[in-house]
Amino acid sequence: MKFFVDTADTAEIKELAATGLLDGVTTNPSLVAKSGRQFKEVIAEICSITDGDVSAEVAATDYDTMIKEARELVKIANNVVIKLPLTLDGLKACKTLTGDGHKTNVTLCFSANQALLAAKAGATYISPFIGRLDDIHLDGLELIREIRVIYDNYDFDTQILAASIRTANHVRDCAIIGADVATVPPATLKGLVKHPLTDKGLEAFLADWAKTGQSIL
Ligand code: E4P
Repeated sequence: MKFFVDTADTAEIKELAATGLLDGVTTNPSLVAKSGRQFKEVIAEICSITDGDVSAEVAATDYDTMIKEARELVKIANNVVIKLPLTLDGLKACKTLTGDGHKTNVTLCFSANQALLAAKAGATYISPFIGRLDDIHLDGLELIREIRVIYDNYDFDTQILAASIRTANHVRDCAIIGADVATVPPATLKGLVKHPLTDKGLEAFLADWAKTGQSIL
């Protein structure tokens, strides 16, 4: 499973990219607003930090303007992926942009039928939002399961990009189900490495090593 980080904070992206564990970045208008920066400028900087796919979302809701915005965004860098909302105009734009050889990420997916449509429109990625479904007492992970079955039934190439991830358990369960990618907030992504028994075990090993009085170097 690939790991994308879900943020427009370039300091966080640099830190994670330096680990060698980062495969890409997703942004959305809310994350760009939170960064307080100019959209195109921040996307350009993110694309210079990572060679992985970087999702940049259109702001328009009508087909013609989405296409114009997408054509502007793809000029920023080769690794820009156009993020489009799951609407009829968004799917139509997805079909056009895919036909033109661009990568697309269809976002705000909350049902298996929406994911089926996105795959038929040729989306590179579909972004089902787990956390937002859980927030309203539905089952976000069940949606990932359904989409996995449907995409495998028809050999769709569209990759499942599990989004709106809130917990380490979401990441684990997405990996078990077989999501292709998980886009994870920086703190949750960094938190995956933590286990109290790892900390406790390391502390004991270091204490015993000190008792030997040896040094490797
Ligand atoms: C995905 O591409 C979205 O940017 C993101 O995962 C949404 O997460 P949220 O529901 O925590 O805002």
